[in-house]
Amino acid sequence: MAPEEEPQEKPATLEEEGNVPADGRKRAKVKRHCGRFWWIYAIVFVIVVLVVVLPVVYVAYPNMAQSAINKSTLMVTSQSLLDPAPDHFHLDLDSVFLSNSSLHAKLDAFEADLCLEDSDIPFAQLSIPPIDAANGTHESVSQEVQIKNKDQFYAYAQTQLLSEEYNVYLKGKGGLKYGKLQKTTVKYNDKITLKGLNGLKGFNVTDFELIMGSHPASYNSNGTVLIPNPSVSTYEMGNMTMDMYVGNVSIGTSTLDNVVLRPGNNTLPLLALTNQTAVGLLLFTKYKSGIFPIDIVCRSVIYNGQHLPYYERPLQAKNLTVQLNVIEVLEKAGLAQALGINTTTSAR
Ligand SMILES: *[C@@H]1O[C@H](CO)[C@@H](O)[C@H](O)[C@H]1NC(C)=O
Ligand SMILES: *[C@@H]1O[C@H](CO)[C@@H](O)[C@H](O)[C@H]1NC(C)=O
Ligand SMILES: *[C@@H]1O[C@H](CO)[C@@H](O)[C@H](O)[C@H]1NC(C)=O
Ligand SMILES: *[C@@H]1O[C@H](CO)[C@@H](O)[C@H](O)[C@H]1NC(C)=O
Ligand SMILES: *[C@@H]1O[C@H](CO)[C@@H](O)[C@H](O)[C@H]1NC(C)=O
Ligand SMILES: *[C@@H]1O[C@H](CO)[C@@H](O)[C@H](O)[C@H]1NC(C)=O
Ligand SMILES: *[C@@H]1O[C@H](CO)[C@@H](O)[C@H](O)[C@H]1NC(C)=O
Ligand SMILES: *[C@@H]1O[C@H](CO)[C@@H](O)[C@H](O)[C@H]1NC(C)=O
Ligand SMILES: *[C@@H]1O[C@H](CO)[C@@H](O)[C@H](O)[C@H]1NC(C)=O
Ligand SMILES: *[C@@H]1O[C@H](CO)[C@@H](O)[C@H](O)[C@H]1NC(C)=O
Ligand SMILES: *[C@@H]1O[C@H](CO)[C@@H](O)[C@H](O)[C@H]1NC(C)=O
Repeated sequence: MAPEEEPQEKPATLEEEGNVPADGRKRAKVKRHCGRFWWIYAIVFVIVVLVVVLPVVYVAYPNMAQSAINKSTLMVTSQSLLDPAPDHFHLDLDSVFLSNSSLHAKLDAFEADLCLEDSDIPFAQLSIPPIDAANGTHESVSQEVQIKNKDQFYAYAQTQLLSEEYNVYLKGKGGLKYGKLQKTTVKYNDKITLKGLNGLKGFNVTDFELIMGSHPASYNSNGTVLIPNPSVSTYEMGNMTMDMYVGNVSIGTSTLDNVVLRPGNNTLPLLALTNQTAVGLLLFTKYKSGIFPIDIVCRSVIYNGQHLPYYERPLQAKNLTVQLNVIEVLEKAGLAQALGINTTTSAR
C-alpha cells in the first residue's frame, strides 16, 4: 500500500529530429510529434501519477486505516469507579486492544466521549493516552472523570445495575500513524460490551442475629449480606442505608458501611436497628412460619458526607427481597423458648 515516489522524469522522449531512420517515416513523425509535445506527455504523466498516487495516499490509505480501526475493539478487563462524588469520580480502566487485521499503528492520544446505546450525548469523557496499537496491546487509563450530563450518567448507572450485559460506545477522533506513512485521522465509534450487576441477582442476608448484650442506640442486630458482582467492575459506594419492610409494615433500617463492591461474591457486615414490636406482631399474626419476606429499599448512598444520586436513584427503583427465618434468629438469641416458638414446637 506504500505510495512510492514514482520517478518523474521519464516518459517524454527527447530525441533530436535529425536522427530519424530513413525507413520509418511514420515512426519518425510520431517521434517528432512526441519530441515537440514532450511537455504534454510529461504533464499527462504527472497527472496520471497524481491520479493514481494521491488516492492511494489520501483515500485508500486513510480508508484502510479507518477500516482497520472499525474492525478493532477494546475489551475491558477491569474497571474501577472509586472515590465517588456527586459530580466526579476516579476511574481506573484496563483494556486490551483487539483487532483481526494485522494493523500495527501508533494511535495518538484523543478525547473520547462515552455514550450509551441510542444516545449521542456522552455520560462521561475520557482522555485516552497514545498507544502502539496491535492485536493484544494493553491500555490503562487512570483519571478523574467529571460527570457532565447527570441524566445520562444516571441512565448509565442504572444500566450497569440492572443489565446482565450492556454496550457503551467510545467515540472520538485522533491521529493514526502507520509505518513511515504520513499521519491520518481516524474516527472511533467503538462498541464496548460489558457485564453488569444483573439487578444484584443473588443478593441475600446469609446471617442475622440479635445483639443480646449492650449495643449502641443505632443498632440492635447484625448480620452478613451477600452481594454477587458478576462484572469486571469495582464500585466504591460508601455508606448505604436501607429501610426494611414486610409488606407495608416498616420493621427497621439497616446499614452497610464503607461498601466496595468488587468482582465476585462480596460478603459485607450489616448492622440493623429492628423494631422488635413490629417483628413480634408480624410473627404472631401473618407470618407464623417465621419466614419473613423482607423488602430492602435503599434510602441513601453517602460517600464522605455527600449523597450519590446516581447510585441512590437506580437502587431506589429496585426493591430487593430476602427471605429471613426469624424463628431461627430468635432461637440463636435464646428467645424462642421464652416466646414459646421454636422449630420443633408448632403449637403457639
Ligand atoms: C467505519 O465505520 C463507520 C460507522 O461507524 C462507517 O460510517 C464508515 O464508513 C466505516 N469506514 C470504513 C472505511 O469501513
Ligand atoms: C474477529 O473475528 C472473529 C471471527 O471472525 C469475530 O468473532 C470477532 O468478533 C472479530 N473480532 C473483532 C475485534 O472484530
Ligand atoms: C488477537 O489477540 C487475542 C488475545 O490476545 C487472541 O485471542 C486472538 O486470537 C488474536 N487475533 C488475531 C487475529 O491474531
Ligand atoms: C439466603 O441465605 C440463606 C442462609 O445462608 C440460605 O438458607 C438461603 O437459601 C439463601 N437464599 C437464596 C435465595 O439463596
Ligand atoms: C454480630 O456481632 C457479634 C458481636 O460483635 C459477633 O460476635 C457476631 O459474629 C456478629 N454476627 C454477624 C452475623 O456478623
Ligand atoms: C397495610 O395494608 C393493610 C391492607 O393490606 C392495611 O390494613 C394496613 O392498615 C396497612 N398498614 C400500614 C401501616 O399502612
Ligand atoms: C457466589 O455465591 C453463589 C451462592 O452462594 C455461588 O453459587 C457462586 O458460585 C459464587 N460465585 C463465586 C464466584 O464464588
Ligand atoms: C415499631 O412498630 C410498631 C408497630 O408497627 C409501631 O407502632 C412503632 O411506632 C414502631 N416504633 C418505631 C420506633 O418505629
Ligand atoms: C461511613 O460512616 C462511618 C461512620 O459514620 C464514617 O466513619 C465513614 O467515614 C463513612 N464512610 C464513608 C466512605 O463516607
Ligand atoms: C419497594 O417497596 C416499598 C415498600 O414495600 C414500596 O413502597 C415501593 O413502592 C416499592 N418500590 C418498587 C419500585 O417496587
Ligand atoms: C423447642 O421447644 C421444645 C419444647 O417446647 C424443646 O423440647 C426443644 O428442645 C426446643 N428446640 C430448640 C431448638 O430449642
